[in-house]
Amino acid sequence: MGGKSAAKVIITVATIVSIITNIYIYTYPSVDPTKCFWRCKSSMTEYEQDILEQGGQLEKAAYFTKRYLKDVSKQLFSKKDRLSNDDDDVPEVHMLAFGDPQIKGTFKSTPYRTRLDTFGNDYFLGHIFDTMVSRLNPTHVAVMGDLFSSQWIGDSEFYNRTIRYVSRIFKRDVSLLESIKENNKNANNEYQVDWDLWGKNFNQIRKEGSPMNFDFGYSDVHSWEDNENYLFINLTGNHDIGYSGDITYQHLSRYNQLFGKDNYWVEYDLDTDHPWRIVVLNSVALEGPALQPEFLEVTWEFLYQLFERRFNGSTVLLTHVPFYKREGLCSDGPEFRFYPEAYEKEPYKSNLLRSQNHLSEDVSNRVLNLIFDNDKPGIILTGHDHEGCETIYNRNSTNGKWVAANTILNNHDLNIKEVTVKSMMGQYEGNTGIVTGQFNKKIGKWQWYYTVCPFNHEHVWWVAKVTAIICSLAWPLLLLVF
Ligand SMILES: *[C@@H]1O[C@H](CO)[C@@H](O)[C@H](O)[C@H]1NC(C)=O
Ligand SMILES: *[C@@H]1O[C@H](CO)[C@@H](O)[C@H](O)[C@H]1NC(C)=O
Repeated sequence: MGGKSAAKVIITVATIVSIITNIYIYTYPSVDPTKCFWRCKSSMTEYEQDILEQGGQLEKAAYFTKRYLKDVSKQLFSKKDRLSNDDDDVPEVHMLAFGDPQIKGTFKSTPYRTRLDTFGNDYFLGHIFDTMVSRLNPTHVAVMGDLFSSQWIGDSEFYNRTIRYVSRIFKRDVSLLESIKENNKNANNEYQVDWDLWGKNFNQIRKEGSPMNFDFGYSDVHSWEDNENYLFINLTGNHDIGYSGDITYQHLSRYNQLFGKDNYWVEYDLDTDHPWRIVVLNSVALEGPALQPEFLEVTWEFLYQLFERRFNGSTVLLTHVPFYKREGLCSDGPEFRFYPEAYEKEPYKSNLLRSQNHLSEDVSNRVLNLIFDNDKPGIILTGHDHEGCETIYNRNSTNGKWVAANTILNNHDLNIKEVTVKSMMGQYEGNTGIVTGQFNKKIGKWQWYYTVCPFNHEHVWWVAKVTAIICSLAWPLLLLVF
């Protein structure tokens, strides 16, 4: 075989691989659409159920192919209208939840290969986001904390990652960030937060007290920006601001400046028969011993003010650290670590909270009682453990304790599901959490449903992109040279 025909064979194979992988990455939710839809829109008929249970290989293959093609054509050709249900139905809540993207940084010492990985990973995550948003047209998008991979970075690196997060992954406007930087930079023209000023303002509000005037609440906000048709929600994770033993004024002020508030609520449809709300809670600033205990004080103040609202609707609680549960229910068991008494590296951190897998049992009970005191159903979404998990918190109102279990327990009068959203990172298969809220008129209550839509390992995405680049360079070359 001559050089030319060998090259042709190789490039033809690469082209075939490229076509298949590209079709796959752009249509992956269609491969198993049942997991990648809002609730109900895809429920199986009895006929389909029969095929899956009793059908032969051929019948099954035909069924899956047909389902795939049907879904693809639906994505391509049908107009997506989020309010397509009956006019007098309460519009559904459609929320996408992305777990722990943890984007890494590149430094002077970072090898070229790792830089390329990090660069590609941003676009891999962005591909998942784009695909799911254009497929599902959500009303809300939440990123469950641990946006970045490290709390030990300087302001300039924090800013640079924020720009990547905004522009490459979530395709948002960076002009606001750029104008923030113009007013907050050092002599080298790098972003630097004025945490001293932020801290003075923070402490002034805190000390004026009772109730502290932090403007925690919003109502009926459907997007923060005019050109967006969903509400975008950032959450604090331990990698963004640290665990409470680490959180400094610098950490919290730059998060607040670039990502917005760490504690807030948004109430919807307050004067109707179907009120509901979103609660965003900074769970890394709930328990200590903390480096700056005043941060915990303000998070608790937030919870007390929330409680005082006497809100009468359903709650979607978004927070990074999962609630207390015994070993074995989820991938992470309970664990607390503290800095040693004599910690040479940073002596001022002696005995402070170094890390936690869950909130403690006591804090979990207190938080759940403050938020779910109105006996209305709700759902809790958390991040942190990467593996994903679903647990039911069962309340015993005689002692005010909540017990986590796999199921609804007898003799408990309220149960709320906690979903630990499986990470969107490549090694966890690039998941998207899909939350549907439906108001059930018959019982006068909101009902919440969750499913997780996986993509695949990042390698598939890489193969699709790299073969596409190779082919588009190689074909013209081959035709010219030979
Ligand atoms: C952040 O990006 C700017 C502009 O690209 C660069 O000058 C600066 O060195 C970066 N900061 C860090 C810490 O790498
Ligand atoms: C969330 O963070 C992004 C990135 O900085 C920002 O564009 C957006 O406005 C933030 N959301 C809020 C509510 O501040």
